[in-house]
Formats: sequence, structure tokens, C-alpha cells
Amino acid sequence: MPRLIVVSNRVADIHSSNAASSGGLAMAMAGALKEEGGVWLGWSGETSDDGDGPPQFSTVDNVTLAKIDLSRQHVEEYYNGYANRTLWPLFHHRTDLTSYEQSFSESYLDVNRTFAQAIRSFVKPDDVIWVQDYHLIPLGRELRALGIDNRIGFFLHIPWPARELFVTLPQHSDLVWSLFGYDLVGFQTEKDLTAFRDYFQTELKTQQDDEGLIDLFGRRLLARSYPISINPSEMAELSNTEAAANSFRRMREGNEECKILLGVDRIDYSKGLPNKFAAYNRFLERFPERRGTAKLLQIGQPSRSLVEEYQDLGEELMAEAGRINGRFGRLDWTPLSYHTQSYGRDALAGIYRAADACLVTPLRDGMNLVAKEFVAAQDPADPGVLLLSRFAGAAEQLTEAVFVNPYDKEQTAEAIVQAIDMPLDERQDRWRAMFDTISRSSLTAWKNNFMADLKNEDRPETPDRAEIYAF
Ligand code: F6P
Repeated sequence: MPRLIVVSNRVADIHSSNAASSGGLAMAMAGALKEEGGVWLGWSGETSDDGDGPPQFSTVDNVTLAKIDLSRQHVEEYYNGYANRTLWPLFHHRTDLTSYEQSFSESYLDVNRTFAQAIRSFVKPDDVIWVQDYHLIPLGRELRALGIDNRIGFFLHIPWPARELFVTLPQHSDLVWSLFGYDLVGFQTEKDLTAFRDYFQTELKTQQDDEGLIDLFGRRLLARSYPISINPSEMAELSNTEAAANSFRRMREGNEECKILLGVDRIDYSKGLPNKFAAYNRFLERFPERRGTAKLLQIGQPSRSLVEEYQDLGEELMAEAGRINGRFGRLDWTPLSYHTQSYGRDALAGIYRAADACLVTPLRDGMNLVAKEFVAAQDPADPGVLLLSRFAGAAEQLTEAVFVNPYDKEQTAEAIVQAIDMPLDERQDRWRAMFDTISRSSLTAWKNNFMADLKNEDRPETPDRAEIYAF
């Protein structure tokens, strides 16, 4: 039976469904791999003084983890550098924060070659390889260069950028060319797919068909959208745990008369946290009669703390939370609680359920699984309201959320009022529609749809793979 080999920069603790969230990708892949079984290869998170290491294997049940240590220089230039100071800001349309350093792109290719060599050491002819995210775009091509002819798919967990911004990247054409090493390339949303196709249409004047096939000089690439999700039944189960009951009780105690607005985000500039604080501040200014009747609990999960922009953002949020509390707080009411400790997923399920509304307000986001987790964790009899940025990938599916433009603090402040005042029947109707969407388009469906297309024998082959190896 063919094995599934998943490759991603970060590898989660697959055997703990309760690990503190290390990002949507890691949690989603852990869920998908547990269902399918196979091998998960990624960076160990450790730095080595002796160059990149060989993979270290450990197996529990049906999943083998293969982890590689990376050299200090590669961690700095590939992970902190090209991944998180070049591609991440650029793909999130922050060209003002994007570094275009040649050494970063060289290390990025080096690490992709390290991963390719590691896969070659254990891959079997029938294995299906599924590469994840922007850290590893060139990996398919590197595998082809080593003569690996297996089915290889790629999924991008972040948005694909608008062409005008993407072409500012010195390696833009090389990166796109390298995608032709894959049999299938998946995006989160139709919007991302359209932006990707626009690059071919406008920049390269390429033939494309309605099925998603792109032809370029005899090479073929199938590109489609597959919105990632969660398994709602898993979130419902977590909501029934003791830890969830505890966090639910502690959230509600003393807040019987106070509406709880919740935010759960990695501390990342793409998440729009300063805008969220500004909108909340505006809500308190504009609606003084609401003071003391609502509070914002913002959980900020520390992220990429070796990158300067992330450190600066952490400081800014602490200071802003202090300013809001200093200005509006009273002896018996703290308007904004900002926590940076992490919570297990079971405790988080109780926190979601206890909240009256969740504010998911990224400036740009591939999908945003917090939005889906919040919906799945609600009590159907008394569900909370989802406030969702129109710039989150999830907005394409969760159309019954209350949409906000996070750049518009007036409109976001009004949406907070709308959420607080929303009658029970409207909350139930909106929740039911969103829950049904998530149930239909679950994490299992995402994985199955992608794998079915990747394994599809009828799909036209790239005419001459040798061209890709040589490229
Ligand atoms: O979802 C995008 C993503 O970059 C994932 O690849 C990653 O797991 C998550 O955000 C958290 O980022 P990092 O692994 O850099 O902490």
C-alpha cells in the first residue's frame, strides 16, 4: 500500500491532540496524518553546529516522524530570513517589511536540497509525497532533480500575492517555474488561485483551461483550490473535556452581566492586532454606555520571536493594552485582558464556548482556522457571534459571519455592538449555516479531495518530466 509522506517546515507533536496550537498547518497536518498514516518530515526546531543533520526517526502507531536539525546559518537565513522576512511579508502584501537579501534565497535553496536528500534516503517507489507551504516551494523540483518520479503535491497555506507585488521578488520566475516539479498545486481560496492564474495570464501569456491545467513550453501544472478546515466533531469532543469545563467556568465567573469578546491569534502583523485594539478603543469611546458591559480577552500566541518585527509588535500590543486599561478601566472592570501564555486545545475549546463573540480580524490571512474552531466549539442552543475580517480566507466560506473591514475602526466598532445585541434566533441561524458549511467541508474532506486529485490516474501527465529534472 502506498505511504503518504508529508513534508513541512514545522512538525507537531502528533500524539498529543492537546498540544498548544503551533499554527493551523501543524494542527491540520497532525489530524490528516493520524487518519492516513505515513511519514512526516520536517525541521526539528533545533540548531546544529555541524551543518544540517540527517533525519532522526521516531514511530508511534501509524505515523513516523522524521526530524532534521538545521545549521545555525540556515535557521537564520532560511527560516528567519527568506521564509519569514521575505516570502511571509511579501505574500501578506507587506512589501514595506520585505527583505530581498540574496543570502536568504541561497540558504532557502540549500535547505530545500537538504530536505530532498533526506526524502531520497527513505522514499519508496509507490509513496505519495505532499509538500506543505511557502518554506518548501522548490522542493518538488529538487526531488525531480534527484530522479524521484513519485506523485508529488504542494499546498500553500498562506495567500498567493497579487502579481504587481509578487514581481518585486527577484526570484519570482524561478519560484513559479519550480512549481512545475509538482503534479498538483493547491491553494486555500478561489481568490488565491485567481491571483496565481493572473501571473501566468498577464506575465507569461500562458494557456490555461477551466480544469486548472496550465501549459507552459510543454510543461503542465494542475492548480486548484482546496479550503483547509478542521474536523468539527473533534472540537465538539474537546468541548466536553474537564479542562474545557474548567476554562468555561473560570471565564464566566464574575462575568455574568458582562459580554466576553474573544481574540485568539499568533502575534503576527498579518493578524491585525493593533487594528483590533484600535477598533475596541473606538467602541469604548463612541459607546460610553457600553463600558462595563463588555470586555475583550485577547490571547496572543508568541511567534517567530527572533524576528525584529515580531518583537516590536509584541511590545506595541503590551503598551496599547495598558493604555486602554489605564484610560477606561475601573476598580470592578478591566476592559482588555491581553495574555501571551498558551492554552491546550481542550482548555481553548472551553474558552471559545464561553465567549459571546470572537473577533477574527486579520489584515490578510490564508484561511484562519480559529474562525472555524470558534464556530465548531459553540453551544447550538446559545451560540456566540463570529466577527470575521473580509480579508481572511475563511470569509469565502463562512458567509453568515458578521463581516468587518479591520482597517475601518468605526465599522468594526459598530460590528461589535451588532454582535453584543444580536438576538438569539439570529445567532442560531447564522451559527447553523456556518456549522453546516464546516461539517460539509471538513479537514478530512480537504485531505481526501487533494489526495484524490493527486492520485488521479486519468489526469494528463506532464509530457516530458525530463525537462523538469533538467530545469
Ligand atoms: O499557517 C502558516 C504558518 O506559517 C504555518 O506554516 C506555520 O505552522 C504557522 O504559520 C506558524 O508559523 P511558524 O511555524 O513560523 O511558527
